[in-house]
Amino acid sequence: MNRLYLFGLIASLASHAALAGTTPALLDNKPAFIADLMGQMSLEEKIGQLRLISIGGDMPRSRIVEEIAAGRIGGTFNTVIHRDNRAMQDAAVQRSRLKIPIFFAYDVVHGHRTIFPISLALASSWDMQAIALSGRVAAIEASADSLDMTFAPMVDIARDPRWGRTSEGFGEDPYLVSEIARTMVKALQGTSPSAADSVMASVKHFALYGAVEGGRDYNVVDMSPMRMYQDYLPPYRAAIDAGAGGVMVALNSINGVPATANTWLMQDLLRKDWGFSGVTVSDHGAITELVRHGVARDGREAAKLAIKAGIDMSMADSLYRQELPGLVQAGEVKVQEIDNAVREVLGTKYDMGLFHDPYRRIGAVADDPIDVNAESRLHRAEAREVARQSMVLLENRNRTLPLKKAGTIALVGPLADSPIDMMGSWSAAGVAKQSVTLRQGLNAAAGDQARVIYARGANLTGDQQMVDYLNFLNWDNPEVVQDPRPAAEMIAEALQAAEQADVIVAAVGESRGMSHEASSRTRLDLPASQRALLRALKKTGKPLVLVLMNGRPLTLNWEQANADAILETWFSGTEGGHAIAEVLFGEHNPSGKLPISFPRSVGQIPTYYNHLRLGRPFVEGNPGNYTSQYFEERNGPLYPFGYGLSYTDFSLSPPQLSTRRLARDGTLEVSVTLKNSGARDGATVVQLYIQDLAASVVRPVKELKGFRKVRLKAGEEQRVRFSIDEDDLKFFNARLQHVAEPGEFEVQIGLDSQTVQTQRFELL
Ligand code: BGC
Repeated sequence: MNRLYLFGLIASLASHAALAGTTPALLDNKPAFIADLMGQMSLEEKIGQLRLISIGGDMPRSRIVEEIAAGRIGGTFNTVIHRDNRAMQDAAVQRSRLKIPIFFAYDVVHGHRTIFPISLALASSWDMQAIALSGRVAAIEASADSLDMTFAPMVDIARDPRWGRTSEGFGEDPYLVSEIARTMVKALQGTSPSAADSVMASVKHFALYGAVEGGRDYNVVDMSPMRMYQDYLPPYRAAIDAGAGGVMVALNSINGVPATANTWLMQDLLRKDWGFSGVTVSDHGAITELVRHGVARDGREAAKLAIKAGIDMSMADSLYRQELPGLVQAGEVKVQEIDNAVREVLGTKYDMGLFHDPYRRIGAVADDPIDVNAESRLHRAEAREVARQSMVLLENRNRTLPLKKAGTIALVGPLADSPIDMMGSWSAAGVAKQSVTLRQGLNAAAGDQARVIYARGANLTGDQQMVDYLNFLNWDNPEVVQDPRPAAEMIAEALQAAEQADVIVAAVGESRGMSHEASSRTRLDLPASQRALLRALKKTGKPLVLVLMNGRPLTLNWEQANADAILETWFSGTEGGHAIAEVLFGEHNPSGKLPISFPRSVGQIPTYYNHLRLGRPFVEGNPGNYTSQYFEERNGPLYPFGYGLSYTDFSLSPPQLSTRRLARDGTLEVSVTLKNSGARDGATVVQLYIQDLAASVVRPVKELKGFRKVRLKAGEEQRVRFSIDEDDLKFFNARLQHVAEPGEFEVQIGLDSQTVQTQRFELL
């Protein structure tokens, strides 16, 4: 940290001289400084600030540097190398007329060089300290790689696991996702977005991207305002209220108007209602896509719609540059409208500290890392700690887990030794070979106490078309590498390993590309090749432990019925293999809880827990005819929201309320005693849900309103308290007023969303 500070100081002395186009005397007065600067800018220079260019896209680097020197680029993304970013910053602050610094952005979603578990896994920890740790480390590493901004957190509520980007978000619940959004923004931005070890958070994808119809990426979103306000918008708001400096705008349309052209969304809601004053950036090519959406005749009209809606920066297209000058000249876009966007871009650069020191995060040449991938730059201990917290134990028949560190373990499955998949998608500057696979982790943990025999057993899938798609999708190199042996031969090898073993550990699930952008699925079963392997292994009669690696809920009926234990590890990051091994051997007692419901079948989707009440609800145990159900499938999720087992047992006393009558200005305390009644130390999450029993509009069957992650020693107990006030009971009524209506409420407390104990009270 001290070193960083020193670089900053040296660079800042050098840079002040460079900032001749601005007025250093005004530097401590943001509005005056920016107004003064804007007063010196030509229209072309202003428009230049609105351009966000991807490095590695169509434009060669040398050209980008020239464009920057000409004042025609405001920021770039996708480079994490000091030398490259320095060359670009030099062009901006030494060669451009007004010497306005540019900023550098990147998708730092779950770690930067050290990869933390994917976002959905972070959410499974329900542990705000762990999540904050992951965000802070990501910011430290990203800023040390000369980055100023991250396109994160991604807080899109996802209720449809067919959507591949479910992996990137924090699940289905507005309350939990909002808590995480706040935590992440604060962790990324640290003491201030201007700090040398902070990156500015640009929350995405505003808005409602997670609700694309049918879970098909880039599809339309059509949603009632009540649902929007109640369930989908709160996490973006939470991120903004926590100080997120940027907002990335979604690719989808909302009730017929693309977000990128949506004046209601960008002006009325974001700026007027929510008071957002940071920068808005379009998603990749989204302004051009307005033509394909069919709301703009051509690029000219697309640029006009976007700037008028309030998209400050256009990402990865040239439309603003090409079209805005002509639009201003024709009087179709006012200079005022351009100025509003420019003011926000410059304000953001100011807030990042770039006017004070454009090299704040780039540092001095002499200090450039010799090896950007040096082990010393990683934060392995932190990644392992967070990974441990993020795993969810779904099944554990006959206490199959934890495994004994003795005897022989057969480790099988296409994901048991796949370093790239450990990282999950959006792995920033992570390096596959630095991530620990389960095979490596298990071997290291077993030492000479237990023998681990490995056999791959199956390819990820036998479907070559799927492999081709996944390999074509995004990556520089083919990621899904197929074992050329026939499936039967691979299974036979796995069976041979199993025959010699006391227990089978099978690492199965998805490749990371299967849970990614543009990776929507119609089927959520394990691919047939992996199912076939599991069926064969089951026949051996040996205890079968599944280690799942995947980025979304899967349909796991067969697995639930046949596996002895199932551990959901998601994509657990650089230290994943070690963390999983610790959980399997019981050195760490799992405590994760699902942040999203697992359906029994795709036909059941959506299965989110906080659905609205019905006139003819299906009641488990007393179903009746003519109730809301699928008659050929068991109803309810396979694993509910909030669910997750432990190696120890927890019990909860019936909840007690401090009063049955809550005054408008009062608070009510709900308390329960949580007891670790088992034989091991462990942690669990006490969850508080509330149901509004009668209101002016239909309300959900329950909504999460509080939770506590509690660690208890074996035999220990603790009183857990929640306080409820009027704000917790508010909802958006039919006129979109945020109100709490008088009447009865039910408190539901449990260790998951389904098994709860209840009490009632009245709001006066
Ligand atoms: C994604 C964004 C991402 C951007 C820049 C887009 O394809 O939708 O989430 O931030 O690319 O990489």
